[in-house]
Amino acid sequence: MQLLENYTPALKHPVFKYITQAALQLNVDTYVIGGFVRDFILQRGAAKDVDVVAVGSGIELALKVAELLPNKPKVQVFKTYGTAMLRYQDLEVEFVGARKESYTEDSRNPQVEQGSLQDDQNRRDFTINALAISLNTSNLGTLLDPFGGIDDLKTQIIRTPLDPDITYSDDPLRMLRAIRFATQLNFTIESNSLKAITTNAERLKIITRERVMVEVNKILEAPVPSIGFLHLETTGLLQQILPELTALKGVQEVEGQKHKDNFYHTLEVVDNISKNTEDLWLRWAALLHDIGKAPTKRFSKKVGWTFHNHEFVGSKMVFKLFKRLRLPLNNKMKFVQKMVLLSSRPIVLASEVTDSAVRRLVFDAGDDIDSLMTLCEADITTKNPHKFKKYHNNFKIVRQKIKEVEERDRVRNFEPPISGEVIMDTFNLKPCREIGQIKDYIKEAILDGAIANDYDQAYILMLQRGKDLGLVPKT
Ligand code: CTP
Repeated sequence: MQLLENYTPALKHPVFKYITQAALQLNVDTYVIGGFVRDFILQRGAAKDVDVVAVGSGIELALKVAELLPNKPKVQVFKTYGTAMLRYQDLEVEFVGARKESYTEDSRNPQVEQGSLQDDQNRRDFTINALAISLNTSNLGTLLDPFGGIDDLKTQIIRTPLDPDITYSDDPLRMLRAIRFATQLNFTIESNSLKAITTNAERLKIITRERVMVEVNKILEAPVPSIGFLHLETTGLLQQILPELTALKGVQEVEGQKHKDNFYHTLEVVDNISKNTEDLWLRWAALLHDIGKAPTKRFSKKVGWTFHNHEFVGSKMVFKLFKRLRLPLNNKMKFVQKMVLLSSRPIVLASEVTDSAVRRLVFDAGDDIDSLMTLCEADITTKNPHKFKKYHNNFKIVRQKIKEVEERDRVRNFEPPISGEVIMDTFNLKPCREIGQIKDYIKEAILDGAIANDYDQAYILMLQRGKDLGLVPKT
């Protein structure tokens, strides 16, 4: 990997000039530290957040910087944490006094006291996040790297500055952060670190669900999410967060018949879909598309392994899961439910594509039809090259058919061609059951392709159906 080795360009944003000036006036040693430095060296694109550490008061430094800045921005002070934040142009700058921390068993809120830069670097999560660049006039732009963070960036390793048992036990969220960085950056987690995560996995329970899910979502948004989910599984963290997924693990064999390991299959589907979509919720749908398979798994001598109705059962599990994980219970969740429910529909079509099945699929999926097709294409994980090609080709045909049916029959956002008012008026009815029956009959006929999605043809059918139901048109 090409790493940047000249650190002064990291400070090219105009805000740093003012911080240096403020530090000089207050006579406090000041450094930029953490993710900003890491991402600058990795050339990960323009940063939005900057962490500045002062060997003294971070709040006083922030107030002085704001005084010197041309637009005198507002400073948000968080007294309890000893931090302060201001925005300048496109950057959010957070100031903190260098500190020493010690943690207790049952909380992740540390006892904090003032410390040196080295103390502050010691308390950071990873060597690659403990890198600091000086903002002091005496050694402006010098890199301070006490734990070999640069070497770890070069060899692509996630390592803790201190004994990993201490780092993870102090703040168990870091276990997820280690896995998240390893997934985002495609880095290796150093083996002692990985062991310590496994040992401390239980301590995840003291972290709020919201913070856990921020990390899980970042793992799911990474280019190859399976890297993270495999780590989560082997360390025992996944069992605590998503037991519905770990329940899919394993291959059972009865009378010589095996089913596939649905956990590894799921991860393959997630990686596949991640090549084609950045949409977090479609990735969630891929992650959960088979969760109904654990509770519905049965073996019968006649047909072997079955997972009857797993799509329906799985879609019903989504609400509880989202609620427990504090994920949004809004239309994002409904979208995931719908994708899980419909996830097997197109594959059935892939063996025989009929117009009426395509029409029904478009009707049921509505505007989410493209997402559903993307999910189902990702679901093809067969290792048989012949089948792989055949399924993909059939899906191409399905996509083409969807286009044709859409142009012809307009069933995506289906509006019945005959309204309830027309039916009431024709047969001189007050609101009653028969109106719904006639409407359904017309809808089914359109979806079956018996009539076109057209007023005149639907009108004739309405008269016929009304007659069958014993209704007489007004004269
Ligand atoms: N940090 C830490 N332990 C944590 C969270 C953060 O030691 N649980 C330290 C790290 O030095 C980190 C810095 O605080 O670099 C800033 O944290 P944050 O903004 O959360 O993360 P970044 O490293 O900036 O990365 P990202 O923006 O991708 O989350």
